[in-house]
Amino acid sequence: MTNAAPALHPQTPASAVVVDHLNRQLASAQVLLLNAKRYHWTVEGPHFRDYHLRFEELYQAVLPMVDELGERIRQLGSVPVTSPQQLVEHTAARISDPAKPLDAAAMVREALENEQRVIDLMHEGIDLSAREGDPGTSDLLTGFVQVHQKEAWFLRSMLG
Ligand SMILES: [Fe+2]
Repeated sequence: MTNAAPALHPQTPASAVVVDHLNRQLASAQVLLLNAKRYHWTVEGPHFRDYHLRFEELYQAVLPMVDELGERIRQLGSVPVTSPQQLVEHTAARISDPAKPLDAAAMVREALENEQRVIDLMHEGIDLSAREGDPGTSDLLTGFVQVHQKEAWFLRSMLG
């Protein structure tokens, strides 16, 4: 019989590929937020209110993921990307080009294309983290991908 305290594990050891993947997820989520605000602020037309509110809902759906991704990277003992330059380097979502005017339908198409890119990236990350023995990260991304699939369905439905 021993009263020895359990060994302390200050952090979950993570594979570098999982952390790198999470930084791609984090940068992509930040780009989705910036794009959603561009659409929210600049959309015009007879259905302004619908689009304006829909793009704010998209922003609010993605917002909680940013903090969860950053903190997951910290739990794994690494450092999340934060600078605009790092976001540009790591994002899988395309940054909406402010020099390119978009009507409301083009904003929805662009947002949908980015949702699909992020869904693909999440599927990749779910498989990758499972292979790397990190079910916690896999579970986090499994929850997030369902939010993105719902957003993609909303956006696709608006295109008719
Ligand atoms: Fe607003």
